[in-house]
Amino acid sequence: MAKKVAVIGAGVSGLISLKCCVDEGLEPTCFERTEDIGGLWRFKENVEDGRASIYQSVITNTSKEMSCFSDFPMPEDFPNFLHNSKLMKYFRIFAENFDLLKYIQFQTIVLSVKKCPDFPSSGQWKVVTQSHGKEQSAIFDAVMVCSGHHIIPHIPLKSFPGIEKFKGQYFHSRQYKHPDGFEGKRILVIGTGNSASDIAVELSKKAAQVFISTRHGAWVLSRISEDGYPWDQVFHTRFKSMLRNILPRTVVKWMMQEQMNKWFNHENYGLEPQNKYLMKEPVLNDDLPSRLLYGAIKVKSRVKELTETSAIFEDETVEEDIDVIVFATGYTFSFPFLEESLVKVENNMISLYKYIFPPHLEKSTLACIGLIQPLGSIFPTVELQARWVTRVFKGLCSLPSEDTMLADIIERTKKKIDLFGESLSQTLQTNYVDYLDELALEIGAKPSFGFLLLTDPQLAVKLYFGPCNSYQYRLVGPGKWEGARDAIFTQKQRILKPLKTRTLKPSSSSPVSSLLTILGLFAVVVAFLFQLQWF
Ligand SMILES: Cc1cc2nc3c(=O)[nH]c(=O)nc-3n(C[C@H](O)[C@H](O)[C@H](O)COP(=O)(O)OP(=O)(O)OC[C@H]3O[C@@H](n4cnc5c(N)ncnc54)[C@H](O)[C@@H]3O)c2cc1C
Ligand SMILES: *[C@@H]1O[C@H](CO)[C@@H](O)[C@H](O)[C@H]1NC(C)=O
Repeated sequence: MAKKVAVIGAGVSGLISLKCCVDEGLEPTCFERTEDIGGLWRFKENVEDGRASIYQSVITNTSKEMSCFSDFPMPEDFPNFLHNSKLMKYFRIFAENFDLLKYIQFQTIVLSVKKCPDFPSSGQWKVVTQSHGKEQSAIFDAVMVCSGHHIIPHIPLKSFPGIEKFKGQYFHSRQYKHPDGFEGKRILVIGTGNSASDIAVELSKKAAQVFISTRHGAWVLSRISEDGYPWDQVFHTRFKSMLRNILPRTVVKWMMQEQMNKWFNHENYGLEPQNKYLMKEPVLNDDLPSRLLYGAIKVKSRVKELTETSAIFEDETVEEDIDVIVFATGYTFSFPFLEESLVKVENNMISLYKYIFPPHLEKSTLACIGLIQPLGSIFPTVELQARWVTRVFKGLCSLPSEDTMLADIIERTKKKIDLFGESLSQTLQTNYVDYLDELALEIGAKPSFGFLLLTDPQLAVKLYFGPCNSYQYRLVGPGKWEGARDAIFTQKQRILKPLKTRTLKPSSSSPVSSLLTILGLFAVVVAFLFQLQWF
């Protein structure tokens, strides 16, 4: 009999978990507390308790070709970075295509998940849900927790002495929806994450003045990279990832700094990160530097104290007449429906094997999906997590002993603190390509570079030097997709298609460039001949 799996939540993580269950022949039931799919990506005008909340203008910071699920490329004409409504469209066609909606019970909240009372060592779970005021319970063979981690706002009010005296308005970034109503105000935004920067930029078009206060600074990257390609297409290649792993730390740090400062010098703009860690998460924002250049936004250091109307900063400077403070200070997370002994969240740290499995269960029948903040898109990441988890549930993959898992968790935490630091927002960070490969290896879906070099060198070169997209994990192994190779080779087409909205006459190559090409070829031939002689 097919194993029954409860999936909690129908956001990105829940949807892909459902699909993976179906692919593996498991029998899933998804419980979603709201009336629709999409999780945090479904914009609503009002903020709802217990649900993530975004502002109206949110656009993805990872590109469409790096963010799609591995056997379902986004429509060719979709732009490379998607407005939240467009991304919702993708989720809808994805859910429809794989016929996932029929497994979802909407407006059903999971109240508790407990070990099956009659046979606690069976690995089964008793799941209690509530729908329209009615409680129900059912037994499941396994549970996938996909409830998200951008729900509980984190405002460190203790670090803002004087906040109780402050006469203006203040709120967490999750309350922010539109720039309307902020005309002519003097606004202080706390934080320099993606949300903080987006909100500061948007408000700066209407406000009298926006200040952005940062403790550690930030690297700001444009979504547009070399030759106009999306940043993650260029950044996340196996080759670059390998370099970042094998070169000495100081060299990598220097390279990162060079790269980050190519667009503008972060020190001149007061943004340079002030910590010793290498990989401080970049902020993706195309407008922040120009707003700083216009003076519409000013960078300040950490807030030391607030008074009734002003902010005093660490460097003793004061900004008077502050009307509004926006705390873009991130989130904490918890799982109210799980017993604390199962998944313990402490200081935003969580002990899970490979960020997924609680290590101390008799049977590996509970998994957390999406509890991670990768440097790249989370979509392919949660997909590989779910592919592995469903195969573990099915008994096709097994986990090591509890001791081995615990040792791995400790080792990983140490490495992560070393790379990313201990700050709250970064406790879920992980190295992008490495983690994807690691999960793929578990299920036998990691492409073998050496083998490909012999059998399909063209593909091998693409895999190694090209963008590490999700299609790569559908080339071999379980869940192999016939269209994967083609998807890799047609990627550029899908990137350029939405930009080709004006028909251009084919340009004839200029005589100068032809001449240069001929000279270049000549130089190569000469160099080659020289080389032959030397051997
Ligand atoms: C502003 C913002 C922008 C982002 N941009 C990007 C980006 O461009 N690229 C990227 O890769 N990542 C981005 N992220 C990261 C984001 O975490 C992921 O994109 C992704 O949406 C997370 O999906 P999820 O399914 O894990 O969680 P969510 O989207 O939060 O979904 C969780 C679902 O579970 C439901 N639920 C919760 N508790 C219960 C319960 N007890 N019972 C029943 N249902 C429950 C909720 O209603 C919700 O539908 C962004 C995050 C934010 C906040
Ligand atoms: C994109 O933005 C979200 C929200 O701030 C953040 O959690 C995520 O890490 C960002 N992704 C990248 C790759 O920067």
